[in-house]
Amino acid sequence: MASSSPRATITACERFLPDRILTNEDIERTVDTSDEWIRERTGIAERRILDDQPTSFMATEVAKGLLRRRGISGDDIDLILVATITPDMVCPSTACLVQDRIGASKAWAFDLLAACSGFVYALVTGAQFITSGTHKRVIVIGADRMSAITDPTDRSTCILFGDGAGGVLLEASEDDSGLIDFELHADGSGCDDLNVPGGGSLWPATKQTVEQRLHFIRQEGRTVFKFAVQRMAEVSLSLLQRNELTPQDLDLFVPHQANQRIIDATANKMKIPADRVMSNIKHMANTTAGTVPIALSEAFDEGRLQPGNLVQLTAVGGGLTWGSALLRWGTAA
Ligand code: ACO
Repeated sequence: MASSSPRATITACERFLPDRILTNEDIERTVDTSDEWIRERTGIAERRILDDQPTSFMATEVAKGLLRRRGISGDDIDLILVATITPDMVCPSTACLVQDRIGASKAWAFDLLAACSGFVYALVTGAQFITSGTHKRVIVIGADRMSAITDPTDRSTCILFGDGAGGVLLEASEDDSGLIDFELHADGSGCDDLNVPGGGSLWPATKQTVEQRLHFIRQEGRTVFKFAVQRMAEVSLSLLQRNELTPQDLDLFVPHQANQRIIDATANKMKIPADRVMSNIKHMANTTAGTVPIALSEAFDEGRLQPGNLVQLTAVGGGLTWGSALLRWGTAA
């Protein structure tokens, strides 16, 4: 990034979580599993479930919260980006629905699909419009209603996911805070490891696709597990190294929340002390594009993010996609 360009800095962060809690004990009543197994293998105790509302509802609540925290209106926004794999509809984008509901009359809007890496991809994308000087304020949201695409009868996936959304407001930095650097990757040869096959142009929705349960998320759990640990550690270390930093320089590491064992193994590989690793998976489970901004917003509200702090975000997800972003925390609302 050219040193003369302003950095894109986070000036507000927000999250939205549905009220309804689905505990492991609740799931014990529907599939052959146990609270003990789920906690031991994933670290998850409960997840939030959104009833009778689509993803845009959560994303709009986040956008409204960002405007409220910053004391601005929808008209002050230039671009809205929503990372999601559970859009309300195939078309239009969920971002356009948010744009309308917050009265962002001057903003353009689009969705970005990179599954669990969606927020990191979207943050980096949104930041380019700030750094280039073309936009003043960009809203970046990660939102997923995973309960809409999770098979409640599949014990290997139904225990893992929850619903939720988080987001940030990006503006030009007046100091050295903001997005320092990033590294993003994709490998489409991993398509079969993690996907939702039905409902697109390959398998348009039919009675058969519904009967074959093709509209639900499927994964090769062990393959994804190993890939996640290896890639999150690798990309995070690579990004630190090229900025002449080490994991010991980090004030907070915010990894994608897929499994507590994945978080622990990644942190161990990188030798980051546990107290500098953000984890909320016990209560939120995996909210896909929502995990990183929800964790960031929680950390901020808990006072774990102070001006000047060095923060690293890292994620891996369907695509396969993975990446990391390095930030200097500024003054946020
Ligand atoms: N309850 C009880 N037993 C179960 C359950 C369950 N909910 N699910 C699977 N099992 C059984 C399996 O059938 C298997 O039994 P078997 O040995 O008789 O065949 C046994 O438990 C072990 O199964 P594994 O799949 O090897 O269990 P593992 O320790 O790998 O845990 C898990 C499975 C939790 C899915 C893990 O592989 C994982 O977290 N993978 C990452 C996947 C992920 O997070 N995907 C989300 C999207 S991508 C992302 O966010 C990065």
